[in-house]
Amino acid sequence: MIYLKTAEELEKMRKAADLTSRALGEVAKWVKPGVTTGKLDAIAREFILDNGGRPACLGYQGFPGTLCIEVNDTVVHGFPSDYVLADGDIVGTDLVVELDGYNGDSCYTFPVGEVDEKVLSLMRTTKESLYKGIEAAKAGKRIGDIANAVQTYCERRGYSVVREMCGHGIGKSMHESPEVPNYGRKGIGPVLKDGMCIAIEPMINMGSKNIVIGGDGWTCRTRDHKPSAHYEHTIAISGDNPEVLTTFSYIKEAMGELYI
Ligand code: MF3
Ligand code: CO
Repeated sequence: MIYLKTAEELEKMRKAADLTSRALGEVAKWVKPGVTTGKLDAIAREFILDNGGRPACLGYQGFPGTLCIEVNDTVVHGFPSDYVLADGDIVGTDLVVELDGYNGDSCYTFPVGEVDEKVLSLMRTTKESLYKGIEAAKAGKRIGDIANAVQTYCERRGYSVVREMCGHGIGKSMHESPEVPNYGRKGIGPVLKDGMCIAIEPMINMGSKNIVIGGDGWTCRTRDHKPSAHYEHTIAISGDNPEVLTTFSYIKEAMGELYI
């Protein structure tokens, strides 16, 4: 069942999404060579708790972090650790925050120091594809229209789309109906309706689309160990112009001229 949010619920979704975005803005201030991914996790956790939220990933089916950490070939669901970020790495930080019973979900892939131009292109394309997906998310259209917009944008530029992981509905739970794949045919899948809240999250690989899950049961990497990028927004369907509930503006502010 796809649940349509009331006006009161949308207001709570906005607040949860804003706290999610502000927490990623705090993380952005710390991303540089020499910092551990565990430090980024602690920054996010403390900020969320200080602001009355709950880090929703922490303890979710046993997940050990506030942030999912995605370094280089890690696609999703990596653990925060004592790994020290190095010049030339990229690191995705995927965050879900629950506030007043509702969840916001957002992810940003950051460059660490000086990153190879080819990898920066992968990141830019992935982020742009998220906005292509958002543009396609009009009331009356279907989930497949979003999926197809993301897929064609990335594949035309020579990248591949991870198949096993999807975006999702979001609200009182971090994962609700429907699934929002990043590939597929236009015109198929559930119809988008005003008040539907979904998280769109392209996971795009430089090499092949294939992934492997590590021995910890979580960490998902590219099989060819080439880099992968991941960006995510929580949105609410609203006529022809979806409301983007999360924002990268705090990240942009924190990164200044390093923002990509
Ligand atoms: N943000 C992830 C998503 O978009 C959720 C992380 S799964 C968890 O679906 F187990 F780490 F919580
Ligand atoms: Co998500």
